[in-house]
Amino acid sequence: MRPRWLRTVGIVIGALTLCSLFYGHYYSSLLSAGRTPRESVGYDLPSKGLEWIPAVPHGQKSFSLRNQEQTLRVQRPTKEQVPLTCPTSLQLRVKNDSYFKTLFNFEVPLLLWNSHLTESNWQTLSKRPVPYGWKDLPREDVASTLKLLNDSLHRAMFERQAPQKCIRCAVVGNGGILNGSKMGKEIDGHDYVFRLNGAVIKGFEKDVGTKTSFYGFTVNTMKNSLISYNEYGFTQTPKGEDLRYIFIPSDLRDYVMLRSGILGVKVPSGYDKGDKPSKYFGPKPSSKKFKMLHPDFLIYTRDRFLKSDLLNTEYANLYMPSTGGLMLLTALHSCDQVSAYGFITPDYNRYSDHYYERQKVPLEFYANHDMIMEMQLWGRLHDRGIIKLYKR
Ligand SMILES: *[C@@H]1O[C@H](CO)[C@@H](O)[C@H](O)[C@H]1NC(C)=O
Ligand SMILES: *[C@@H]1O[C@H](CO)[C@@H](O)[C@H](O)[C@H]1NC(C)=O
Ligand SMILES: *[C@@H]1O[C@H](CO)[C@@H](O)[C@H](O)[C@H]1NC(C)=O
Repeated sequence: MRPRWLRTVGIVIGALTLCSLFYGHYYSSLLSAGRTPRESVGYDLPSKGLEWIPAVPHGQKSFSLRNQEQTLRVQRPTKEQVPLTCPTSLQLRVKNDSYFKTLFNFEVPLLLWNSHLTESNWQTLSKRPVPYGWKDLPREDVASTLKLLNDSLHRAMFERQAPQKCIRCAVVGNGGILNGSKMGKEIDGHDYVFRLNGAVIKGFEKDVGTKTSFYGFTVNTMKNSLISYNEYGFTQTPKGEDLRYIFIPSDLRDYVMLRSGILGVKVPSGYDKGDKPSKYFGPKPSSKKFKMLHPDFLIYTRDRFLKSDLLNTEYANLYMPSTGGLMLLTALHSCDQVSAYGFITPDYNRYSDHYYERQKVPLEFYANHDMIMEMQLWGRLHDRGIIKLYKR
């Protein structure tokens, strides 16, 4: 049994490490470029400044992500291949919504893969600190990781898409609202189930189900969850033949761990040096098990959906959407229907922090997330019929 204070100490140490890392970035960017902090983070969403805004209108066969010397072409399905047969698709509902149609951009690259390793991408992304870019990351580490993401499966969230079918996804957060919810069957009834961080299943099957298609994390949140929630049964990360891991590239650690995981070797250097990825992803995992979110997607989610006031404070360089928030936004940008379970609702005071605590613990707020803003976003998406949010 691990006392709660020990967990808190662990979290504080983790946060301090992050702080020092981020402040390192912050000061170096100030010194090297002589910029104001605002510009150095780049969190105003410029309608023209970010290059991924597509130049080609809908309905065309391909679009360029960056029309620089090395243009990346992404094949879009032709009408013959994929007839628009999901009449209730989330994309259609968004297009019909006066508020959300201005926020969503389904053309933003969701995943990161080997073709993104271009000189122009390097120039753009190496100016933005993690998680929104590659600033201060050794180019060799980024390049050697991206080179391994060379399969068509690294470019798509789903491996088979029956053209006649709506893709129905459940995203399962870890909120206390799920305790006693009996939502397990409903959750497992979806085509794909997303889980994240301390996703305890054993003993909670009736409430949270058992199916896991995607497990999302940063190496930091995954390892912290294994320590903090061990006492509640989170003794290992979810594993399974059909399970895919979604890395959120929040730090150099994520690139190095992903590369080591695919190569099946011990982590050779850095914070996790000597760690065996097989502990987390099973022995000899196929490279097809891994996906990584694109830094452009992360900055897009921050600036369009979760542009928190924290960005105007000294915590600006620490701020990012929560892991749960990012998984829900990932589902929103890839599935036709999305149901969210275990996410924060206005009555969060009634529930424990997580569904698996034995005694009620109040929800913990961290300086690097804006949970209240996330709560408002999920509520609004639900009210407008774009997601189904589990409430009680
Ligand atoms: C779009 O919104 C209008 C008005 O709210 C509604 O009547 C119509 O059915 C909606 N269409 C779709 C495809 O959701
Ligand atoms: C991806 O890269 C690996 C290692 O370099 C190579 O063995 C594999 O054949 C490549 N796969 C594809 C689809 O190009
Ligand atoms: C979870 O639910 C059970 C049964 O409804 C209850 O006894 C328990 O106190 C709840 N746990 C927390 C942490 O609220």
